Amino acid sequence: MGQVLNFFPLTIFKSKINLTNEKKKKMIEEIFTMEKKSKNIDYKNQSSAWTGDTQGFEYIHNNPIFDDFFLEVKKAIIEYLNVLEIDHNQLEIFIQRSWATISREKENIALHKHLQSHLSFAYYLKKSEGDANLLFVDETKHNEFLPGLFLSPSSNKKEIIKKRNIANSGAIVFEAKEDEIVIFPSKTSHQTQPNVKNNDRISLSADIFIAAKNSENMEHLVTPFKNWKTL
Ligand SMILES: [Fe+2]
Repeated sequence: MGQVLNFFPLTIFKSKINLTNEKKKKMIEEIFTMEKKSKNIDYKNQSSAWTGDTQGFEYIHNNPIFDDFFLEVKKAIIEYLNVLEIDHNQLEIFIQRSWATISREKENIALHKHLQSHLSFAYYLKKSEGDANLLFVDETKHNEFLPGLFLSPSSNKKEIIKKRNIANSGAIVFEAKEDEIVIFPSKTSHQTQPNVKNNDRISLSADIFIAAKNSENMEHLVTPFKNWKTL
């Protein structure tokens, strides 16, 4: 048998964040208060989840109730960078936006990506066993030499792909439990599973922006924020 070599993976990182039940309860109460104070409720349609960033609450990282959580987030981001063998000591890690989402019944979040940032995450503050998971869609599909094959419902029905594996999947459901954080490149297309009944599932998300600490002799990466100037 010949040799099979796989290249160019997408690396998604999952780890657990341990917060006390008391701390989590306070965060949940704060999020329900934000929901009550929604500033743009017409924006939300019946089938979509409540997303705090569209309702006037896009900076939860500036709310002290979430301080402990974001300390843990920082550790997880550094772990992710370590997995990719990226020297985080040369980089400055910013949070530019952070928010909560609440999914009730079959509400979901449609397919999207976060093109204004570099890394994104979902942390499950409240999640029951059957609640919706994240679904990632691969836009590169290097192995899809027959365009459309991997995600075609009709060819799926005919089982042209006999068995799904890492080499022939264009989308995956990423399972995670309450207390777990999932970190991924912001440019990755993702959504929450549709048609899954949620038991008031609450997640926290943020857009992480990464700049070089020192731009000298560096053609790429974002330059240090302290040297920027408003025109
Ligand atoms: Fe997202």
